[in-house]
Amino acid sequence: MKTALSFAAPTPIETDCLAVVVLDEGAVKDQPQPKAQVSGNAADDQAIHAVLASLTTEELSGKIFEMVLVHHPPGLKAKRLLLVGGGKAKSFSAFELRRVAGAAVRFLKPKGIRSFTFLMPLLGTDPIAAVKAIVEGAFVADYDPDTYKSDRKDQRLDSLTIAVTGEVQHDALEAAMEQACIIGESQNFTRALVNEPSNRMTPSMLAERAWKMAQEVGLGCEVFGADKLRELKMGAFLSVAQGSDEEPRLILMRYEPEDAPEEPVLGLVGKGITFDSGGISIKPSEGMEKMKYDMAGGATMIGAMRAIALLKPKVRVLGIICATENMPSGKAQKPGDVQIAMSGKSIEVINTDAEGRLVLADGLYWARQLGATHLIDAATLTGAVVVALGHINAGIFSNNEDMYGCFEQAEKRAGEKMWRMPLDADYLELLRSNIADMMNVGGRWGGAITAAMFIKEFVEDTPWIHLDIAGTAWVEENKAWIAKGPSGIALRSIVEYVVAGVRS
Ligand code: BES
Ligand code: ZN
Ligand code: ZN
Repeated sequence: MKTALSFAAPTPIETDCLAVVVLDEGAVKDQPQPKAQVSGNAADDQAIHAVLASLTTEELSGKIFEMVLVHHPPGLKAKRLLLVGGGKAKSFSAFELRRVAGAAVRFLKPKGIRSFTFLMPLLGTDPIAAVKAIVEGAFVADYDPDTYKSDRKDQRLDSLTIAVTGEVQHDALEAAMEQACIIGESQNFTRALVNEPSNRMTPSMLAERAWKMAQEVGLGCEVFGADKLRELKMGAFLSVAQGSDEEPRLILMRYEPEDAPEEPVLGLVGKGITFDSGGISIKPSEGMEKMKYDMAGGATMIGAMRAIALLKPKVRVLGIICATENMPSGKAQKPGDVQIAMSGKSIEVINTDAEGRLVLADGLYWARQLGATHLIDAATLTGAVVVALGHINAGIFSNNEDMYGCFEQAEKRAGEKMWRMPLDADYLELLRSNIADMMNVGGRWGGAITAAMFIKEFVEDTPWIHLDIAGTAWVEENKAWIAKGPSGIALRSIVEYVVAGVRS
């Protein structure tokens, strides 16, 4: 998808479709019916205003994702005018704009419209945030997961132009648009990895894809197998891999610009379970096919590294992906087995299905050994986080208030929803083992928290963010702004955090 900025007024723009956001301004005094209004400068455009005035409130109220398509709009050069509801004017922000832009893309594509112009609404005083939101929203919406349908209609958008009116800094907007394209493309790169079934995305195939991408964008990338895991004494990671006929892969990506200071060094660690059957503690067959996306955390880190390499921030970043299958077999680990992690801690594996925390324990510990001063991990870690937060918010945990504060800001800029969960020391009691330093599960209650507490034992005092994306990595049904399938959650927040300089 090509993107461009246009600084022309709306009336003379020649385009297949001009999309304009309309907002619900609420009831006005002496005019009880709420009336949709075009936001910002476009409100001054007589032609758009006339179309709006010709519609009844029932036809167009400004409700979010409401669409009215007008052909040959009088007074405009555009072939069509799409009026897109943006919801309540009072609460309209970059978050809504991102989804509204996406909804416009998903509405127009099946109609054969491959290029259109989106009239930028005024978002307070921040046109940069508006441009980013529109472009990112359009990329998210453009992604089509139906790659294996033989009657697939490839409906990629060819081009999107954002029409900007008013006094704005052209250079800054161009730069924001370029950034947003990189982020949007990287998010879709991650989604394409997550979308693959496990027979087409084994640990070695995931490593191959990461390596190829790294060559393309100029990242350092090394890929290791079981021998290296043994050499590093990654007993926790190896214990998960031992049940599978597929070789595990430990992927290390390095972004080390010469002009970056020695510190901070951010370690991005991803869970890359390319299929999670549960192992000997096997999962029920119903829904097991979904466990192909248990490598979403790893794919997020690969996509984030891609974006970072292209955006070139002056900060060092390591990407580590622990990729393996979790399978039952005669060689698989069994409940009750004791494993020694790379850190030297002993783990009693009560449930072989709690494998994500085992691979992350070694991945995070290794990141620290390689010099990471700050850590972020992403993982489809627990069913419990889905019980707690549903499919709306990702679970976020942190052992450092300052790092959390900076990440929270990044999350807001990225328009991603995450909800903080606690890490009180009291929860650690639940992991106490009779035979080893800790068990890998903490019982029925607070499962997302005990999983995070387990990982925390390997992170110790290093500032750390843990993202449990089990409920948010896969969109369960088509939405106005995004197709059912892999979401690419967390990539944008991580990249925003890095671009702002990895602060804590
Ligand atoms: N990969 C699963 C978690 C998961 C659940 C991801 C739903 C995506 C959607 C993880 O490895 C797992 O099986 N966790 C167990 C832990 C339990 C045995 C303590 C779970 O959540 O049931
Ligand atoms: Zn599992
Ligand atoms: Zn898993």
